[in-house]
Parts: sequence; structure tokens; C-alpha cells
Amino acid sequence: MKKILVLLGPPGAGKGTVGSILSKEWELPLISSGDILRENLKKETEIGIKAKKYVESGELVPDEIVMEMIEKELSNFIYNAGFIMDGFPRTIEQAKMFDKLTDSNDIKVIYLKADDDFLVKRLSLRRVCENCGKIYHLVNIPPVKEGICDVCGGKLIQRVDDREDVVRRRLKVYKEQTAPLIKYYKEKNILFMVNGEENLKNTLSEIKKITEW
Ligand code: AP5
Ligand code: MG
Repeated sequence: MKKILVLLGPPGAGKGTVGSILSKEWELPLISSGDILRENLKKETEIGIKAKKYVESGELVPDEIVMEMIEKELSNFIYNAGFIMDGFPRTIEQAKMFDKLTDSNDIKVIYLKADDDFLVKRLSLRRVCENCGKIYHLVNIPPVKEGICDVCGGKLIQRVDDREDVVRRRLKVYKEQTAPLIKYYKEKNILFMVNGEENLKNTLSEIKKITEW
């Protein structure tokens, strides 16, 4: 049996933070659609050029582009033990495609729940390393040296889509296009809700209790 963890939740709920910690602990690869897209934007690849306007304005990148990207990622590597998905699937269309590539007996979907106002505030204090992508929070998870990444020494920046107006747009898009996945996975009996507003220690232990991995 494979261990496939799907992290579902609104922007800022903690998918990337939780995903990167559990990926190290469980020695499972982390596949983050947002990170892959941002890497493509940076390198100005064909995908990056097509995706840029969507990512920067907080809209979802069209399904065909993202599905092809993820399909390629999953076929390029052998994920015998499983993997952690951060930010994919994000539409019913993407979930149906993911169903074809996986066995639902292997999957646990963690829905990290948090309120809009909480998330807007939390994201205003997020910083990320422009070099390695490590995620910080100025109050909750600050770097040792201000403005500098603990891991690689890179510069900490604010994501372009963390401007308040774009965050509000992302929250709206989430409700319209991604939240329907909660019902979709509930009906398959593989959805587990976790409070995304808790401190990191509690959130992680809650997820471990659920997965028993
Ligand atoms: P993506 O990068 O996936 O962004 P998102 O879903 O909006 O989520 P975020 O990365 O903003 O938040 P997160 O949940 O990872 O929170 P984090 O751990 O950083 O997508 C970006 C864009 O790419 C989309 O808008 C879209 O355009 C495109 N895209 C991506 N996937 C797509 C797809 N499948 N289909 C179509 N388009 C797609 O945490 C947030 C902050 O809180 C941090 O500062 C962190 O340090 C802090 N924090 C986290 N957890 C805790 C905790 N428990 N306690 C205290 N602080 C915490
Ligand atoms: Mg993220």
C-alpha cells in the first residue's frame, strides 16, 4: 500500500508548511503544484509563460496545463512508497484525473480549515526564500537572521500573490472552484478535517493521529 497524502485547503492554511515537514519526516516526496508553477515562471518556460497571468492575479491556471504538468511529474518518477500533494487537485476535473492515476485506498485527504480574515492576516506576514522556497512567518516561524533564509542564506521575499487584494481573490476562487472537493472526498470517505488555525505542533500531531503513518 502506498501512502498518498493530499493537502486541501484555502490559501495560507498551511499546506506548504505541513507538507514540507511531513515530507522530510516520512521520507515521501512533496509535489506542490504552486511551487512547480512558480519555478516555471522564474525560468520562463512555455508553461511559465502561459501560467504567469493566472498565478499573479490569483486565478487558477487552466486545468489542461496543470493536469499535463502533474501527469508528467508523476510519470517521470517512481513513487513506490507514495507522495504528498500540496495544492493539487484543485478542481473536480483535476480530482477525476487524479482518480485515474491513483487508488483511493492509498489516499488520505487532509482538509486544513481556516477563516478568511485569519488567512489574510497570516499571509500578510508570510515570507518565502527566493532561492529555495522555504516558508517563514514573521511572528510564528521567523528566520534566525532577519530577511535571510536559515537553510540556504537566500533573500526572503513576499510572494506577488500575497498582496491583500490578490489574497481576497484567491479566497473567492478557492470557494468557487476548490471547496467542492470537500464534498467530493467526503463521499469517498477519505476526507479528514484539521484545524488550520492551530499552532504547527498541534496541526502536525493531529494529522499523524489521522494517518497513523
Ligand atoms: P499555491 O502556491 O498552491 O497557493 P495557495 O493554495 O493559495 O496556498 P499558499 O501557498 O498561499 O498557502 P499554504 O496553504 O501553502 O500555506 P503556507 O504553508 O505557506 O498556488 C498559487 C497559485 O498557483 C494559485 O493561485 C494558482 O494560480 C496556481 N495553482 C497552483 N496549483 C494549481 C492547481 N492545482 N490548479 C490550478 N492552478 C494552480 O502557510 C502560510 C503562512 O502561515 C506561512 O507564513 C507559514 O509560516 C504560516 N503557518 C502555516 N501553518 C502554520 C501554523 N500551524 N501555525 C503558525 N503559522 C503557520
Ligand atoms: Mg503553499
